[in-house]
Amino acid sequence: VVTKALKKQMIIPDWERFVGDMGEIFEDVRGFNEGELATYIPQLSRVPPDSWAMSVCTIDGQRKSWGDSLNPFCLQSVSKPFTYALVHDDIGPEALHAHVGQEPSGRLFNDISLDHNSFLEVSKSYERLLDLPSFEVPRTNPRPKKPHNPLINAGAIVVASLLKNKTPLADRFDFMIHACRKFVGSGYIGFNNSVFLSERETADRNYALSYYMREHNVFPKDLNLQDTLDLYFQICSIETNCDSLAVMAATLANGGVNPMNGERVVNNRACRDTLSLMYSCGMYDWSGQFAFHVGLPAKSGVSGDMIIVIPNVMGIALYSPRLDKLGNTVRGVKFAEQLVQKYNFHNY
Ligand code: DON
Repeated sequence: VVTKALKKQMIIPDWERFVGDMGEIFEDVRGFNEGELATYIPQLSRVPPDSWAMSVCTIDGQRKSWGDSLNPFCLQSVSKPFTYALVHDDIGPEALHAHVGQEPSGRLFNDISLDHNSFLEVSKSYERLLDLPSFEVPRTNPRPKKPHNPLINAGAIVVASLLKNKTPLADRFDFMIHACRKFVGSGYIGFNNSVFLSERETADRNYALSYYMREHNVFPKDLNLQDTLDLYFQICSIETNCDSLAVMAATLANGGVNPMNGERVVNNRACRDTLSLMYSCGMYDWSGQFAFHVGLPAKSGVSGDMIIVIPNVMGIALYSPRLDKLGNTVRGVKFAEQLVQKYNFHNY
């Protein structure tokens, strides 16, 4: 690494200048102090509202943090791409996507709709258009409904139901938290029990979503619904800080290999599919706008955290708990917009 740095062969050759520019954007974005804290989970509404942190970690392992970067927060929905990547790595894309789609939902994160029979509806309209004989639907094998994608609640609950589901709940949680430790390397990973309890207490919508999905046979066989929901709430309550979250994001930027210790956490294909979904579905109802204006895979959570992945370059983590109406961190989104104005990181 030192030789590469001396020869200016690092992925960001002029690190000092880059760090200076990032620091300026960080201070500029601090001024955006509108937005509300998530109140539907009481514990999340009690954090210092004006915390602001940012960290970067490149695929060469160069790192820098600004602001409250060691303050802990819960992963919340930022856990979703990581759970998806781990289940993908474990059981493969076919088995996983038998239960969950890949379409942006165009709806809020806790929406209750499922993506159903869209193929049949499209075939039917083509039949009408082309005046073809009716398309026979095999009645014994109706196409199952699926949640739109793994990054909204419905999809993430289904992904949790697939996570090491032949083992006891405690082992499933252990698997997840150990995997998070592999994503961060020597960084901080903890668990916030009061957020977990508070989350479980206020989860009527997630229960409703899950019963609805069970009615429509979305889940795998032998489902224990309460275990699945508990695991989902526990994963949302896994804690980290901005400094460590940047390494998790950098592992996704680096094809699934942690850049700090060279350890592979998930396979290449799992990493690629995770980034594709983050690109199209990572920012809830703002995903289309974000893909258009920023052009990078990202994921936000209601605690106010957010990751941005610049593939083959770096991971960026942001934390500011004030959220916009769609549930994305206000400063995080502003930062992303300013980043691509300054640097040409937009995919296209
Ligand atoms: O399912 C829930 O309600 C949350 N604990 C996770 C939500 C989340 O972070 C969605 N975010 N914007």
